[in-house]
Amino acid sequence: MSALLPSDVHPHHYWHYLKKTYGLGDFFYFDVWPVGPPVLIICAPDIADQVTVKQSLNKHPIVKTYLTQHLGDENMASANGPVWKKARTMYNPAFASQHLMTVISKIVDDVLVFHDVLSELAESRKVFEMEATAMKLSFDVIGRLVLGLGLNSQRSSDELVDAFRTQLHYLSSADTFTSPFPSWNPLRQLMIARNSRVIDRCLGRIIDSRFNELDTAGEKHDAKGKCILDKALHTRQADAKGQRICIDQAFRKSTIHQYVHFPTSKRPTNESRIRTFVFAGHDTISTTISMIFYFLSHNPVIREKACTELTSILGPGKGVAVERIQTSPHVLSKMIYNHAVIKEALRLFPPANTVRIGSPSVNITDSSGRQWPTHDWMVWPDSYVLGRDERYFPRADQFIPERYLPDSPFPPVPTGAWRAFERGPRDCIGSEFGMLEIKVVMALTLRDFKFKPAYEEGAPKVDGEKCYQMLFGSAKPKSGVPGRIQRVGNDAIENRID
Ligand code: HEM
Repeated sequence: MSALLPSDVHPHHYWHYLKKTYGLGDFFYFDVWPVGPPVLIICAPDIADQVTVKQSLNKHPIVKTYLTQHLGDENMASANGPVWKKARTMYNPAFASQHLMTVISKIVDDVLVFHDVLSELAESRKVFEMEATAMKLSFDVIGRLVLGLGLNSQRSSDELVDAFRTQLHYLSSADTFTSPFPSWNPLRQLMIARNSRVIDRCLGRIIDSRFNELDTAGEKHDAKGKCILDKALHTRQADAKGQRICIDQAFRKSTIHQYVHFPTSKRPTNESRIRTFVFAGHDTISTTISMIFYFLSHNPVIREKACTELTSILGPGKGVAVERIQTSPHVLSKMIYNHAVIKEALRLFPPANTVRIGSPSVNITDSSGRQWPTHDWMVWPDSYVLGRDERYFPRADQFIPERYLPDSPFPPVPTGAWRAFERGPRDCIGSEFGMLEIKVVMALTLRDFKFKPAYEEGAPKVDGEKCYQMLFGSAKPKSGVPGRIQRVGNDAIENRID
């Protein structure tokens, strides 16, 4: 199997290949131990819900091994039990719609910078990596939500962004299922530790500057309506049992140490949480933005429909759209067709997945009522395999946003078949925020730019596509979606790329 697929493919592609080649059913067991963990792949919506919604199995230890290298101990995405529950309860309010609406105007500012960056790239006519470019935008945006700061990574070379990015090169990758050796490489471990120190130092500086702002404002830390870092500070204040925190140098230093270096701290999880949000909130978004440009480049009629909807909702151009979004952010919820475009990009190219650890007390039940064990298996409800299944998504390999619309010519998508944000209590906490950010990007750039992918002649393919998924932090598009961009619309300069 690994000889038939490029060596850097995401494991999704193995599961899809196995299912297709051997005509496998709603789930299958695949055991390559000792090379990789034995895995139970679930490819039916109701069975996937049995292990995530009806009962929510714990995250598999491999998630911790993988993410701890990057995000620190007890990061929320891999934690289980009370540690996870406490974090989720604490941060849920930061993702409430009402709060998110207050961040929109800052997102608009960042997207306007992205628009300028794309204009410059259009003028230069150079081939660039769409995912890397979108990643800088998503980093800026997540900085607003998590740290309450503009990171300006789109316009300046940023040590923190670079460290986050290069870290992904050193983390164990798709070879998890074909070879255990890369993770034993000492050089790799050294580089991970080095990058980790850089990330800690940069985050430390940001936290310090946040303290300064709060200090100058003489503000009592009320977490309501504040960024995620402020909520962490608020918890620190609550721990001080009613005494107001005095943000003097000594406190700042000790708290930065506590949040950033955390080796002997009693509260080691805050820095991990901050890192987790920065990681989870930029990586998945940049993939989705680049894949939307990619899919629309192959589907001009769909692009046209999306642009027409934007004009009808947001007015004729960027300037009016900015004003409408700033004054009434709820207008974004009217972007029904564009919403369907995002969902379709996420179906065909889901950036993240869940993997759980089976339990002796949890079996799955097939359509005939027969029970099957999960104990000791890595349980993987695979949104990629589900998303490519003709039973749930007719003409599954085609990009058809209409399938989600109320007047769709297709049968309704069964509950649980579309699970790009996963389902149940461990679903994505940032799903609404992510959709909002992507909608602002579409609202302000789609009508002004056309993208044309530029993969090299002879580049490897999966299912006939040069743009396949690799495991690189999350599921990333091969080569970052290289291409050129063309300015279109009323004030476009003539720079055709086709
Ligand atoms: C298109 C964008 C996004 C996609 C497709 C996505 C997808 C997912 C998926 C599939 C999971 C479950 C992972 C697992 O079970 O291992 C997840 C969890 C998570 N996501 Fe997202 N995500 C996106 C955006 C975001 C954003 C913007 C944030 C934060 C600002 C975020 C923060 C998280 C966190 C903290 C978790 C762990 C939740 C928990 O365990 O309770 N995500 N995401």
